[in-house]
Amino acid sequence: MSDIHPTEALRALEAEALEAIASAKDLHALEDARITYLGRKDGRISLIVRSVGTLPPEERPAVGQEANRVKERVGQALEAREHALTGPAGGPAEDLTLPARRPWTGGLHPITRVVDEIWGIFRDLGFTRARGPEADTEWYNFEALNTPLDHPAADEQDTLYLEGTALLRSHTSPVQMRTMEKHQPPIRIIAPGWVYRRDTYDATHTPAFIQIEGLVVDEGITFVDFKATLAEFARRFWGPGTQVRFRPSFFPFTEPSAEVDVKRLITRSDGTTFQTDWIEIMGAGMVDPNVLVNAGYDAERYTGFAFGMGAGRIALLKYGVDDLRTFFENDLRFLAQFAR
Ligand code: PHE
Repeated sequence: MSDIHPTEALRALEAEALEAIASAKDLHALEDARITYLGRKDGRISLIVRSVGTLPPEERPAVGQEANRVKERVGQALEAREHALTGPAGGPAEDLTLPARRPWTGGLHPITRVVDEIWGIFRDLGFTRARGPEADTEWYNFEALNTPLDHPAADEQDTLYLEGTALLRSHTSPVQMRTMEKHQPPIRIIAPGWVYRRDTYDATHTPAFIQIEGLVVDEGITFVDFKATLAEFARRFWGPGTQVRFRPSFFPFTEPSAEVDVKRLITRSDGTTFQTDWIEIMGAGMVDPNVLVNAGYDAERYTGFAFGMGAGRIALLKYGVDDLRTFFENDLRFLAQFAR
């Protein structure tokens, strides 16, 4: 200290301290710098401040002033660096080398997409949309649909009853009757909606699921209209190479009844194709005359066809997913795959 003037020593230390502070990589290094330069006991700047009293009286004010200025400047630099290292929220500092976050965009649920796509195809074929209540009665859910209450489907084993004859609809078919009560033919409706069954939750069953109902009633509707409309739908939905089969079946509210199967033509990524096995996609049939009579229609004059399919099942087949539950667990890593 003897040959260098204290003011010069202060300036040199100031530069050195600022450099050390700027290059401190973390709070530890920063604290080391603070102790080295401003440490109470033997911080290098503190020592000079303390030695001011030993100077000749005429030099003391100037050196004292400079010492305070340097102390303050270094103190501010320490504080600024600490801010930079801890970040605005007190968390780790921003790492500017990280890629920027993309804005999150939501997407429609895969089952919603399937419902929209199916509805869109039928809309193009001239159908309108209808709806009915999810809580309905035994009459609409069963009896009006030619299903006696001693039919197994009406059993409490399968159906979720509310109070008295009120229940959670076990299919969307009650919308058929609710629509026919309000409107006269021609009728061409699609009615997607939630239905409820006393099913155990497993890979192919969920106690609540979305069905899509269809109903056509008019004069002169024949089995040909029935087959042609559903085959057209199947080819629009599954692709032009799709084969369609109507397999005899039974539903109390249709006669004759059929299960509709498709055999899909799938194109692999290398351009080669293969046909799938037959897969069932819906229940359907010509509307039973008893149902038309229950609706107050003249069953001699009008005929029609109806169909119903499970949207979740269609989504499984379309997306090649093997467990329905994945659609309901809401794991975004799974769901985000379907967002376009
Ligand atoms: N409601 C029937 C079911 O849930 C499906 C169906 C609808 C069958 C319309 C024929 C006609 O299984």
